[in-house]
Amino acid sequence: MGKFKVLNKSELQNNESKVVNVNEDSIAVFNVEGEYFAINDRCSHAEASLSEGEVYDCKVECPLHGAEFDLRTGEALTPPASKAVVCYQITTDENSIYIEVDDNA
Ligand code: FES
Repeated sequence: MGKFKVLNKSELQNNESKVVNVNEDSIAVFNVEGEYFAINDRCSHAEASLSEGEVYDCKVECPLHGAEFDLRTGEALTPPASKAVVCYQITTDENSIYIEVDDNA
């Protein structure tokens, strides 16, 4: 596993999301009321960017066909998506946001 600094906290305000790239992965990072979450940005149903989805109750709704994913686990909660998206471990310190990824991924 490798730990990568992906953003300064000041770059991701409350209720914002951003896409970061780590290795070959595009990862959507969310700040939900001061809690941080990271899942693969690409919806498991088609090619939509989950960072552009609407967030509520720790879920994100895919902007293309409306499938919902749990931000804590990446689990697909509603159709048309049925496969989970990868969920990444996220840590923070005073100023920075880090993501842990498998170096071999
Ligand atoms: S692309 Fe996300 S639900 Fe279809």
